[in-house]
Amino acid sequence: MTEPIIIAIDGPSASGKGTLSKLIAKEIEAAHIDSGAAYRYIGLQALEAGEKLEDENAMNSFSEKVLGSATLDDLSNSNLREDRVAQAASKVAIYKDLRANVVTFLRDFSKKLVENQPFKAVVMDGRDVATRIFPDAAIKLYISADQEIRADRRMKELQSKGFKVTYEAVLEDMKERDARDMTRSIDPLRPTDTSHIIDTSNMSQEQALEAALEVIRRETPL
Ligand code: CDP
Repeated sequence: MTEPIIIAIDGPSASGKGTLSKLIAKEIEAAHIDSGAAYRYIGLQALEAGEKLEDENAMNSFSEKVLGSATLDDLSNSNLREDRVAQAASKVAIYKDLRANVVTFLRDFSKKLVENQPFKAVVMDGRDVATRIFPDAAIKLYISADQEIRADRRMKELQSKGFKVTYEAVLEDMKERDARDMTRSIDPLRPTDTSHIIDTSNMSQEQALEAALEVIRRETPL
């Protein structure tokens, strides 16, 4: 079986990478995996089980246990989108062994997905897809946007899902999470030397899709 073409898409929250990844996958008929869902799943399970997020050793073994039985449905559950879950996800995402468990899980997960259905490509989005999970990815995109614009987008997304949030609270949470994701010692969020940077601050979803497809079509046979 030929190896799928990997498209790695990284960026901060509400940069548009999630929506963009889904649209790209649809356009090129690829599998799509949201790597953040694995961290959110661990975060949610830990909150529900009353685990101490600050206890690194406990969280490392807890992650191994919960990932062992995680299904595709578990990872696409809408309750993962809550902001408290995002915060919990980024708190546990600083732990080295937990991250190693997630990386192994995601690589296996994408392999299984391609074995079951022979996709020509896999689109994965997250924070360390290009730097850690798939360093040999054929295409590396880094999606960014101004923090205020991202906070506004995230507020609207959460409100449309029925969550009661204010712009100020969302911006505060975003600043906290950006700082944690960008400054942690293990695999912080950053573009690689070969990443194509797409700033979506003043772009519609269609324009961002067009910019991404232009790179993909220029540099791969897709
Ligand atoms: O949807 P949003 O971009 O806000 O978040 P997400 O992609 O679901 O990721 C939630 C959290 O998981 C992030 O804030 C990161 O701390 C962590 N994460 C990570 O460390 N590495 C990844 N590849 C994906 C997510």
